[in-house]
Amino acid sequence: MRRPGIATTALIAAAGRGERLGRSEYKAFVTLAGKPLVGYALETLRSCPEITGIVLVVAPPDVERARVSLIRSGSGSAERVVAGGADRMASVRAGLAELDAACDMVLVHDGARPFLAPELIGRCLSAAAQHAAVIAALPASDTIKEVAAGQEPCSCPTVAATLDRSRLWLVQTPQVFRSALLVEAHARALRDGVSATDDASLVERLGHPVHVVMGDPANIKITSPEDLAKAESIVRSRAHGGDREIVTRSGIGYDAHRFTEARPLILAGVRFEGELGLLGHSDADVVCHAICDALLGAAGAGDIGQHFPDTDPRYAGISSLSLLARTAAQLREQGWKISNVDTVVIAEAPRIASRIPEMRRALAQAMGIGESQVNVKGKTTEGMGFTGRREGIVAEAVCTVWSERAANQR
Ligand code: CTP
Ligand code: MG
Repeated sequence: MRRPGIATTALIAAAGRGERLGRSEYKAFVTLAGKPLVGYALETLRSCPEITGIVLVVAPPDVERARVSLIRSGSGSAERVVAGGADRMASVRAGLAELDAACDMVLVHDGARPFLAPELIGRCLSAAAQHAAVIAALPASDTIKEVAAGQEPCSCPTVAATLDRSRLWLVQTPQVFRSALLVEAHARALRDGVSATDDASLVERLGHPVHVVMGDPANIKITSPEDLAKAESIVRSRAHGGDREIVTRSGIGYDAHRFTEARPLILAGVRFEGELGLLGHSDADVVCHAICDALLGAAGAGDIGQHFPDTDPRYAGISSLSLLARTAAQLREQGWKISNVDTVVIAEAPRIASRIPEMRRALAQAMGIGESQVNVKGKTTEGMGFTGRREGIVAEAVCTVWSERAANQR
């Protein structure tokens, strides 16, 4: 949302050499997933309606290249490129010199922070509507110690003090200021020969309050080759739909059919000769039906009756193995993979133990999974109930399915 009347220019400091990155080119043009590093923050700021102009500060040798390949030029273009200075302060100063007189607010951002989220820009700008100086920062979560002066990090320095972590914040960019305030802070620092690693400290030394808004842990600064490698993997994972995670689901299925003399007995696609068959619209294979229901249940896709109605003549006498194969295919299309299926066949007769390997094989083939992922067990009810009275057969099934999907697509 554009805030009426407030002109906010984004100043992108991207003139650093990137010495710690150890590349031959300046850091702004080091490629991150095929795109210049500074292009990331530039695009985000460009797409932000509150930002009314952009000043991109790059190293002098990169000015022309930035003009040609990064900046949208044209009449009345609110984007421009300027050459930076010997240190960050000089670069920001060079950018400030380019601000329009009409610019009310300046948002300073390091081009080395590619993962600038629009939400963070929004947080900073809404705080800046009330405060003349606003910075993004994160509360320190590690304990922070001060070491004795003049000691190198690699020389096992001595601790001088342990700081009060509850009051320490790790500072990021964006930092947003009333333009006149930041221009004055830089002029005074130059005059006083003061140097600083961020802009807010120059405002602080004027005695002006600086307010902190919650930063963003994803808003990392690319400093070392390790940071660049981490950024590469973040860009790649975002390109594949963001954070991926494994989602698992379970399903339960049950079926019962009555014995009849007129039909062959088919269980898990295996024919049992000389036994009473089961009554049903299809081949009445209770095992396949229970597994279909378990699979559909796991996928949140209803039940077998909805998918293969017993009023539909196409399914009269059909092999239930083919219904199982179609159900498994439907789950695959939805991105589900079957982890395992377990079943219990509850029947006084026939005894199925010797046929279990065949049953597992047929079921696994129909579902397109390995035999080790399918288990079949036989049980009697010791003469109790309708299965005990040999009136019919029951099958129960449970299954687990899994899928890798974006965290926001659960
Ligand atoms: N920066 C700048 N002009 C400089 C030095 C730094 O505009 N003369 C910018 C960098 O481009 C970067 C930000 O300030 O976006 C933070 O600086 P840093 O991460 O230290 O980058 P470099 O100075 O480029 O890296 P190094 O210190 O490793 O050389
Ligand atoms: Mg530096």
